[in-house]
Amino acid sequence: MTCSTKLLLMAITVLTLWLQISQAYCVYNRLDGADSYFYVKEREVNPRASFKKQINNGERECCPWNNGECNLTGKQEGIVDFHITIGMYGASLEGADTFFAFCSAGGGLVITGNNLYNITATCNHADGKVNTRPIFAIEK
Ligand SMILES: *[C@@H]1O[C@H](CO)[C@@H](O)[C@H](O)[C@H]1NC(C)=O
Ligand SMILES: *[C@@H]1O[C@H](CO)[C@@H](O)[C@H](O)[C@H]1NC(C)=O
Repeated sequence: MTCSTKLLLMAITVLTLWLQISQAYCVYNRLDGADSYFYVKEREVNPRASFKKQINNGERECCPWNNGECNLTGKQEGIVDFHITIGMYGASLEGADTFFAFCSAGGGLVITGNNLYNITATCNHADGKVNTRPIFAIEK
């Protein structure tokens, strides 16, 4: 194998890796309070949905599109629905209210707020558009 072939293969490997990372949606926890966390799961409109994560303050979790368990439509603009259970300031998730939020499969969903009556979901779409909306607990 020539040196340039090796370089080319390396470039392809790096590119593939980058594409796998960028072809994902991510959910970010930017709540107030270092001990504020939430549990997020993809709503089971996707029969193979497997995205179920606890996200601590300042962290994020992502799910790649090329995984049919994350991506129902296979499109960057496809909508992904989430259920989010929030533990503000270290509160237990047991019996906690569930919130509903959605974003596009190629986007990033940022959860902010300082109490359960003031939670905002901001969806940053892959095309640069941004939707910001307050989200409220789903009636039990
Ligand atoms: C989405 O997932 C399906 C099933 O794994 C796959 O066939 C398709 O290529 C994926 N779409 C994208 C854009 O990665
Ligand atoms: C709602 O939360 C945001 C983000 O933490 C904060 O900037 C804002 O002041 C809060 N609003 C109220 C009314 O508490």
